[in-house]
Amino acid sequence: MAGLRRDTFRDDLDDCGPIPLDALIWIKNRIDPTLTFRRSCREGVCGSCAMTIDATNWTACTWAIADRAKPATIFLLANLPAIKELVPDQTHLLAQYEMIEPWLNPGRAIAEIKKKMIERQG
Ligand code: FES
Repeated sequence: MAGLRRDTFRDDLDDCGPIPLDALIWIKNRIDPTLTFRRSCREGVCGSCAMTIDATNWTACTWAIADRAKPATIFLLANLPAIKELVPDQTHLLAQYEMIEPWLNPGRAIAEIKKKMIERQG
């Protein structure tokens, strides 16, 4: 694919934290400040650090480097176009979220409960 490249980095695992996200931050801070990736919660909740790690889609903050084979391979999530390096274009994904609304909407939930109560009272 045009414009994509593959880089190899060697982390000092004694100097960085225990998760792949730490290794990426270490690389960004020590070797390549242009390395680009997303992260937010660092708790495995937001999904913003999702990447293809060792041929499996993972969040880079939810498993230990020590539990994986070395060297690890980290790529952009498959099936999503790249904006830059490890940052995929999530436009389509976010549009799908808008359609299914995978979040709590207390106002709507209360309105639905009231409607059902009224229906049951007949
Ligand atoms: S930073 Fe949120 S899931 Fe990894």
